[in-house]
Amino acid sequence: MKTNYHIKKEDFVVILTGAGISAESGIKTFRDSDGLWENHPVEKVATPEGFRADPKLVWQFYKERYNQLSEVEPNPGHYALAELEDYLQGNFSLITQNVDDLHRRAGSKKILEMHGQLNSCFCTRCKKHYSVKDIDLNIDVPSCIACGADLRPDIVWFGEMPYFMDEIDEALRKATYFMTIGTSGQVYPAAQFLLFARSYGVKTLGVNLTEPENRSFIEEFHLGKSGEVLPKLVKLFIN
Ligand code: APR
Repeated sequence: MKTNYHIKKEDFVVILTGAGISAESGIKTFRDSDGLWENHPVEKVATPEGFRADPKLVWQFYKERYNQLSEVEPNPGHYALAELEDYLQGNFSLITQNVDDLHRRAGSKKILEMHGQLNSCFCTRCKKHYSVKDIDLNIDVPSCIACGADLRPDIVWFGEMPYFMDEIDEALRKATYFMTIGTSGQVYPAAQFLLFARSYGVKTLGVNLTEPENRSFIEEFHLGKSGEVLPKLVKLFIN
């Protein structure tokens, strides 16, 4: 493997990850064969309308994914990104579309979970946030202790505005490198961060098992499994 880039400590690196980086940990992606969307209609389990229509079904879908977190571990791809963050001493931002906790458990610190997280939920009325570990998951649709309304998973659903969009644009504007990893590049706004980066003059890289939709915006592309590619690539970047 080779790279055209040597990352200096004063460089600022922004990463975007998708479901592909967690695939080698055993977490299903969305659009690969046998992916999550093959067995669960998106409109029923990943939209505000779907939740209003059947909150029990939506909670069941997210409870299954939440419970899986205790059965999986970060993989070498997650650890390689934590190593890169340590090397850069804060000149780093990790944007993830993933809602699992594997980046945090691998030691990453500066994480922007733009699609929310499985570990969190909030009240549909008063917006009080809860850790999922603190609520009784035996209840079909948990309710808020403060106001009694239904709680919902803290997941950004289709049609909702992702979190941290201002912080993400600020990071992209000051980046030296932007690297997209394990994402099909089919969901917006994340899919257009590469275009923003290019327009800001940022060098763009990608690691993916297949060629993503937005491949044409990637200057240096590495085809392969992130758990195999990233450890080697990070060593080349920082040595
Ligand atoms: N290493 C690297 N890439 C991989 C690996 C791997 N081991 N396994 C799969 N991939 C790639 C696939 O080739 C695919 O391009 O990861 C990508 C996963 O794509 P999706 O399943 O579309 O997941 P993602 O891009 O994260 O979806 C974005 O869509 O459904 C919404 O909110 C959901 O955050 C999600 C968003």
